[in-house]
Amino acid sequence: VRKVRTHHLAKWKAEGHKWVMLTSYDQYTAQIFDEAGVPVVFIGDSAANNVYGYESSLPITVDEMLALTKAVTRSVRRALVVADLPFGSYQRSPEQAYDTSVRFMKEGLAHAVKLEGGAEMAPQIKKLTEGGIPVMAHIGFTPQSEHNLGGYRVQGRGDARQKLIDDALAVQDAGAFSVVMEMVPAPVAAEITKTLHIPTIGIGAGADCDAQVLVWQDMLGLRSGKAPRFVKQYADLRGIIAGAVDQFQSEVADGTFPGPEHVFES
Ligand code: KIV
Ligand code: NA
Repeated sequence: VRKVRTHHLAKWKAEGHKWVMLTSYDQYTAQIFDEAGVPVVFIGDSAANNVYGYESSLPITVDEMLALTKAVTRSVRRALVVADLPFGSYQRSPEQAYDTSVRFMKEGLAHAVKLEGGAEMAPQIKKLTEGGIPVMAHIGFTPQSEHNLGGYRVQGRGDARQKLIDDALAVQDAGAFSVVMEMVPAPVAAEITKTLHIPTIGIGAGADCDAQVLVWQDMLGLRSGKAPRFVKQYADLRGIIAGAVDQFQSEVADGTFPGPEHVFES
C-alpha cells in the first residue's frame, strides 16, 4: 500500500487483519509512526491535555488544532491522517460541521475528520461524507461530553447496551468509514464489531475490535501521573529524558561537556 486510503481499512476488516492508530501532534512522531508502518495517524483533541497543558479536551480551539494538523500532514507520506474536530466546532449544525471540516482539509491538509457522537450526529456525518469529507465517528465514552456523562465512566453497560449498538449502526448508516469505541464493555464492542461492516477502533473496548488506538504519550510513557487502565505503556520516555537531562546537567557542572570534539579551534 503506497498511500493508505479508507478502502484499505475496509479490506483489512474483511481479511481479519488488525491494525493500529496512534495520535501524533508534531513532525517527529508523525515521521516515526509513518515510517514504522502505522496506517492511521490521528491528531486528537487530546492535544489539549498532551500538548497545550489544559485539564480537559474542551478548551482547545480549531486554530490550535490546525497548527498541529499541518505539522503532521507535512511529515507523513503513507499514513491516512485524521483530525479531530474540537468541542463546539461541529455540534450546532451540519453546516457548521462542514465549514469547520473544510478548514481541516484545505488548511490542515487532513485526509479525514473525526467527531464525537452517535445517532444525534448522523446529520453531520451525512453532510460531510456527501461533501467529500470522510468521517471517523466516536461513540461510547466521548470526552467532549464529560460533563453530561458524569465523568470518565464506562458506557454501554446494562440497559445502555442497546443504545450503543443503535449509535454504532446510525453512524455507519450516515456514512462514517470507521468508528472509535471508547471505554465500552469488551463483549458489547465485540458484538458491534461483528455487526458493522465498517472497522471499529477500540480504546478500552477489548481485543475484538478491528483496530486499537492509543495516545502516544501514554503508550510511550511520556505522560505524568497514572495512565488509565486501558493503556499499556511500551516504553519509559519520561525516564529516558529525565536521565539524559540529569547527565547533561552534571557533565556541565563537572566540566566533562563540552569535550574537545565539540569545540572549535582558533
Ligand atoms: O483525542 C484523542 O486522542 C482521541 C482518541 C483517544 C481516540 O479521541
Ligand atoms: Na478526541
